[in-house]
Amino acid sequence: MDDPAFTLPTLNPIDENTQTILLHASQHNLAALKPLLRIPGNASVQDPETGFTPLHAAIAACEDEEGNSSEVVVWEVGGEKGDGEKVDIEKAKDVVRELFMSGAIWNDLDVRNETPGCLAWRLGTKTRDLYELCVEAGVRAEMLLGIMGRYEALDSGDEEDEEEGEADVDAMESETNGHTAEGVEGEGEEKKDVNSADYLASTLKFEDDKLLDADANGVMMAWETNIMRRSVDLLLPNQNQQAGEGARILNIGFGMGIIDRMFAATKPRSHHIIEAHPAVLEKLAAADSDFSSAWESSAPPGGKYVVHKGRWQDTLPGLLESGEVFDAIYFDTFGEDYSALKEFFSEFVPGLLDENGRFGFFNGLGADRRVCYDVYTRVAELDLSEAGMDVEWTDVPVEELGGEGEGEWKGVRRRYWTLDTYRLPICSFLA
Ligand SMILES: C[S@@+](CC[C@H](N)C(=O)[O-])C[C@H]1O[C@@H](n2cnc3c(N)ncnc32)[C@H](O)[C@@H]1O
Repeated sequence: MDDPAFTLPTLNPIDENTQTILLHASQHNLAALKPLLRIPGNASVQDPETGFTPLHAAIAACEDEEGNSSEVVVWEVGGEKGDGEKVDIEKAKDVVRELFMSGAIWNDLDVRNETPGCLAWRLGTKTRDLYELCVEAGVRAEMLLGIMGRYEALDSGDEEDEEEGEADVDAMESETNGHTAEGVEGEGEEKKDVNSADYLASTLKFEDDKLLDADANGVMMAWETNIMRRSVDLLLPNQNQQAGEGARILNIGFGMGIIDRMFAATKPRSHHIIEAHPAVLEKLAAADSDFSSAWESSAPPGGKYVVHKGRWQDTLPGLLESGEVFDAIYFDTFGEDYSALKEFFSEFVPGLLDENGRFGFFNGLGADRRVCYDVYTRVAELDLSEAGMDVEWTDVPVEELGGEGEGEWKGVRRRYWTLDTYRLPICSFLA
């Protein structure tokens, strides 16, 4: 075959060390595996053909009763075979724990674009405990990243060598909050991170059912209306107040204005919107906008309706200084990573939220991959607790949205939501 398009990729042959480790992992042979895992790097070797790491191998070897298997791969070493034995899930758990303790990377991808956690979830109920171990490892990695971030901010001159297991930490670092889940980059996927500065300088495309950035990333989409509705209802449980007695509301990120229209319909006493993108601000200021200067002048006596033009990072210090306090705060930006959300609820919410107030945010971190979503949901809960807040989660079903490029996803570069349930956070101060 002369046509280069038909040239088969040449795979590096698997080396004996990798083969041995994968075999012991798939046999859940802890005694044989342990001494090998003392050597740095051995916990995260990968089969060049399948992309399996020892974690994948240990999990794949657990078929459930319905026969949901993962095309179990058996590594032969000197005639030994790893199949035929009944799987003891407790042994599998011990192996997975040992692998994590030895630096195994929780979100390495195999050639099917699955992390070990994705595989454990797909194999069914029998491997749920293994899935949990993957989530816990992801949470530990991300919490470590948070600590390292703080350390680096204090002393950025001292660059340490990357330790085993830190690659997973790096992958989490690129996770973007809101409506672009970068997360774990899939094999062959074009890497194009969204970042705040580029987004805010980009041209936007306003359509009836979505708002897109210049790269056709979904900034906001109409399918999220139900999530916005539930968020408003849970943030403001007492909506039937007399005019002028409504709540004091702060919303960060206008987008399509879906949540702000709902907030406005509750007849708030104060309604502050912070928006940074010039094109969104232009729409907001238009004569036919529901939030033009006419709206700003319509606040009830003693209240205030205002659009703050600029980034929340630049606007909030002044708002704090002015002494404004809110009953409900909602945060939903675009192109910002988890550290921005964390900065918001750690540095600003404590000073801006009334002691009996409620704070919510769009929980879209890692929502293109269940295991990442579960990791981020737990990380957020831990960090919120450190910031003095308690979270109540409400599960909101997300109806089938159609496949990549179908229905509302038509024209959107990447389907950022693939899960059937949205976990809606409502936070309040710990008693
Ligand atoms: C996902 S949309 C918000 C959608 C909104 N919840 C709705 O119901 O339509 C995110 C919005 O945040 C804005 N944004 C992004 N970064 C921001 C920042 N640092 N400060 C203020 N607004 C920002 C974007 O321009 C965009 O309008």
